[in-house]
Amino acid sequence: MAYRNEQLSEEKVFKDPVHRYVHVRDRVIWDLIGTPEFQRLRRIKQLGTSFFTFHGAEHSRFNHSLGVYEIVRRIIDNFRGNKDWNDEERLLCLAAGLLHDLGHGPFSHSFEKVFDLDHEDYTQAIILGDTSINKILEKVEPGFSQKVADVIAKTYPNKLVVSLISSQIDADRMDYLQRDAYYTGVSYGHFDMERLLRVMRPMDEQVVVKASGMHAVEDYIMSRYQMYWQVYFHPVTRSSEVILTKILHRARHLYKSNYAFHLEPIHFKSFFDDNPSLEDYLKLDESVVNYYFQIWKDEKDPVLSDLCNRFVNRHLFKYIEFNPNQQIGEYMELHSLFVKAGIDPDYYLEVDSSSDLPYDFYRPGEEEERLPIYLQMKNGDLKELSRQSEIVEAISGKKRTDHKLYYPSDFIEALDDTDPTKKRILEILRG
Ligand code: NI
Repeated sequence: MAYRNEQLSEEKVFKDPVHRYVHVRDRVIWDLIGTPEFQRLRRIKQLGTSFFTFHGAEHSRFNHSLGVYEIVRRIIDNFRGNKDWNDEERLLCLAAGLLHDLGHGPFSHSFEKVFDLDHEDYTQAIILGDTSINKILEKVEPGFSQKVADVIAKTYPNKLVVSLISSQIDADRMDYLQRDAYYTGVSYGHFDMERLLRVMRPMDEQVVVKASGMHAVEDYIMSRYQMYWQVYFHPVTRSSEVILTKILHRARHLYKSNYAFHLEPIHFKSFFDDNPSLEDYLKLDESVVNYYFQIWKDEKDPVLSDLCNRFVNRHLFKYIEFNPNQQIGEYMELHSLFVKAGIDPDYYLEVDSSSDLPYDFYRPGEEEERLPIYLQMKNGDLKELSRQSEIVEAISGKKRTDHKLYYPSDFIEALDDTDPTKKRILEILRG
């Protein structure tokens, strides 16, 4: 039997707390899961540093990737027999769902910012490069790896296939919302996925939702909205990200100035030099990064040592609401007061802004076109979701941004009470 159709002699199942079971029948999928590149995802947390805020949030990208695969598998099972569904695309969809996050590195968010990397480029590089993943995909048929890469990059010609993996209602979001809600223990983020899967159907080149399922879709959109503000953009998590970012900046600065590290940053060198190879990239997972931070706590450099201590022992920065557009004068004053007080503002004063667009209607020509969600009415007509749902309309197309100013309150407290610098810093911070 051709490799692409080969079935395992016995179905494999993974116990999963969110979907109960993840079912694998295809030999190709089973082989992909067994590769070192996929197993590496066990050592990358799905929610980065969120565990500092929600101690249960220790789940990995491995969990999430299996979950996305399982949802795609269930959607496709429901599509079978529909005239708009071509079952030849099945394995491609499953592989793309499984591999869509393959290129995430350690603490992706902060790493990408500091080293100007993009995990999507690495996903492509792992799928197309000299890797075990690539060998398996090419064994399916020559050029299959390119197809998988195209689906994930959203350039694959069949948009129906692309929309299963990335759209405003896709398997990726459906998995992470439920999974992140489960592991953080929050009460938002839940919605009726079983119902959603039953009302989704292929139509031409997209997935549409039967009008009777509108409330299930509303629930899903609202749960995403809640999760962003209650979990993903939690100010405490952002504090730990600020510290992480500062550690990487400091370590790079020291490396560039030929500082004699007690523990040489071998695994970081090519990142500091801005040319990590794919091999270097794959070697640097969160267990390696945490090892360095643990050791760097004892470095002679006081800034690196202090920041690593904060990260390892969860001694985070405090924060206040701060609008950089209106409070630039205060920021400048704080900056010079910090210098006066001997606290380096480059590492100890930071404005962080987070923003999200919960749902967007169609705006052709925008930087990132988002396909809207369409409801299929009884007579077969399609109506864009926000035109039918008042709840969705209320949050549609509205971008919300939140700004915070982060600083080490312990350093400021430690300043002499008679010091006018301290008095003024506290005045500004307390508004
Ligand atoms: Ni994902």
